[in-house]
Amino acid sequence: MTILSINRNQGKNNPKRTPIIAANWKMNKTVDEALILIDEIVDDLDALDGVETIICPPFVALYSVLDLLEDTTVRLGAQNMYYEDNGAYTGEISPLMLRELCDYVLVGHSERRVYFDETDIIVNLKVKAAIKHDIIPIIAVGESAALRDAGETERLITGQLRAALADVPAPDVSPIVIAYEPLWAIGTGQAATGPLAQEVCGLIRRTLLELYGPEIAGQVRIQYGGSVTAKNIAEFIQQPDIDGALVGGASLKPDEFVAIVAKTLEVSGQK
Ligand code: PGA
Repeated sequence: MTILSINRNQGKNNPKRTPIIAANWKMNKTVDEALILIDEIVDDLDALDGVETIICPPFVALYSVLDLLEDTTVRLGAQNMYYEDNGAYTGEISPLMLRELCDYVLVGHSERRVYFDETDIIVNLKVKAAIKHDIIPIIAVGESAALRDAGETERLITGQLRAALADVPAPDVSPIVIAYEPLWAIGTGQAATGPLAQEVCGLIRRTLLELYGPEIAGQVRIQYGGSVTAKNIAEFIQQPDIDGALVGGASLKPDEFVAIVAKTLEVSGQK
């Protein structure tokens, strides 16, 4: 097996943060379908190498997709993992297994938190396990509509962030990606506005500043996620604290996803 030689220091010592778009395919695409989709987008994404693009297919497609991504700038991510290295955990996938394939792993997606009871403590264990095995976590945080209406957004977001990063030492933090994904925007077609997303992403960066100081807070990349499309991506990328997006539904449409990455490159160049 070929192990990708990758720059795991992405984001470090990088005053201008490289824009980062991740495709979260969720539970969609068979292996054959995954290969067809990758084949349709990989050359275009490879050419847009000013944006770091990550594809997160289902586990069973990781190995085959990796083959098509080799010698391109497109990176591979997993949508989840368990936090133990190995053992009697039937059905789980460990970071030891993923590290041969993936540069990134999504941790704490709201669908994991809501449908699979993933708590802040589990998210933290997964973040630390990923780092231990040189996989970069993309940590998702986000509030529900009810909590937003109750004025609880700030408390929830800072709480989720602090919990996810508990006991994570400063040198490990700069490559980490934080994805702000309000639950009311995911899969609903009701994306946040640019200014609303900036408000929370600014809060995330200020929290990182409190925890780790200005240098690291300035290096961590923050994504917005929730009904991102080629039409609205510019509104998010324009914001000072938003460096990219975590894209669900639109990442399954080849032309749309390539257009999102192209627009990201264009707009981030004007920042
Ligand atoms: P969506 O999903 O783009 O379909 O809203 C985003 C996500 O859940 O990561």
